[in-house]
Amino acid sequence: MLAASFESEKMHRRRRRSTKKYLYFGIISIVIIVLIALRPWTYSLKWKNESKYMRCIHSNEEKDNSEVFQAYPEYNKDTKIILLWTHFFGSQTWFIPKLGRYILDRNNCSQRNCLFVTDRCYLDRSDALLFHAFQITQFQRPAFRLPHQRWAVYALESPCYHDLSPIKGTPWNGDFNWTISYRFNADITVYHGEIFKRPSPVHNDYDAIMKLKKKQVVWMVSNCQTESKREKYVEELAKYIPVDIIGACGKLQCPHGEDCLKKIATEYKFHLSFENSLSEDYMTEKFFKTLPYPIVNVVRNGANMEAYQIPSDWYINTRDFESPKKLAEYLNALDKDDTKYIKYLKAKEQFSSIDTQDEYCKLCEKLHDPKAPVKQQTDLYTWWNMDNSGKSKACKEPSDLNF
Ligand SMILES: *[C@@H]1O[C@H](CO)[C@@H](O)[C@H](O)[C@H]1NC(C)=O
Ligand SMILES: *[C@@H]1O[C@H](CO)[C@@H](O)[C@H](O)[C@H]1NC(C)=O
Repeated sequence: MLAASFESEKMHRRRRRSTKKYLYFGIISIVIIVLIALRPWTYSLKWKNESKYMRCIHSNEEKDNSEVFQAYPEYNKDTKIILLWTHFFGSQTWFIPKLGRYILDRNNCSQRNCLFVTDRCYLDRSDALLFHAFQITQFQRPAFRLPHQRWAVYALESPCYHDLSPIKGTPWNGDFNWTISYRFNADITVYHGEIFKRPSPVHNDYDAIMKLKKKQVVWMVSNCQTESKREKYVEELAKYIPVDIIGACGKLQCPHGEDCLKKIATEYKFHLSFENSLSEDYMTEKFFKTLPYPIVNVVRNGANMEAYQIPSDWYINTRDFESPKKLAEYLNALDKDDTKYIKYLKAKEQFSSIDTQDEYCKLCEKLHDPKAPVKQQTDLYTWWNMDNSGKSKACKEPSDLNF
């Protein structure tokens, strides 16, 4: 009797326990269903809420970057992770030969405690996400944003070519914290070259140099139809002074690399550094690359050369001439006046330039800077398309082609 009642109480308790179990199971199921329903469906990565850590499961296209971390045993909690979220043109690794710290080591950055990754599973550990401005909308939005995480947008082309209209009116327009661009008002300004004083003084033999310079103007170019209509300018210029065109838009060829620049600097007096756009601050490597050579640059761009701290006696600016014809008259006069011509070469002879890709150094430094302010670029589209004063368009129409 006693045994029987004991037995039934046990069963009762067991039944109660299993009802409780079903109840827990039900609640957990509902919570899971709600969580799944709230999750943005557009997001392809599978994030799983595992205790307090988010775990990302790779889908087929994503690459596991764990080797990046294995390669840097000094990786620690202070290391900043920079996730390349979009591609840069065709390259998932932004043409950086190796992920991890490679690019920071190569550029001798002062702060190198950052690692570059492409694996989106590091979204929940990344201190910065990098987006190529002109491809943003081809990629999915990150599923979430960590409070301290900086989203940085990288834009090196000019607004004359890319006005960022795809992001206009989308959430992307107010999504970014930092801009990385050649613009002087960017959070990180990218220079296509850096000028420095040569470590030992140069003594050029200008008599010897001038003796070899038999030709006038050289233009190296491969993009033949541009927003700046430089091709139209040169066509007109060539009516008044001989212009040799090297590359896809001309008849002459030159092997790539340093030797070509050396060769043209030996033979020619003037090199055209004409940009494809006349746009605020926009100046590419054309000028910097030829600067160390004894050849005079003729520039045509939308940049303020003084803001680049380039003295005006180092180059000739088409902006100072009403028309290509007037420029040709000046060049022809210089061609006959060695003393005046050599003055240009002498003005810059103690200087040289290097190609710097130090935006990555700066990004890493900024991530380690506790004083870097919380910042939101509220209207990227307008910032990009307006000049530094915010009053007129950054991309300017050429005004020297009325002939
Ligand atoms: C970095 O430093 C090394 C060794 O000092 C030097 O050979 C190299 O040219 C430097 N690279 C840059 C980009 O400054
Ligand atoms: C980054 O920008 C977003 C808005 O786009 C803002 O909510 C967030 O506070 C900013 N974060 C930092 C760290 O600047």
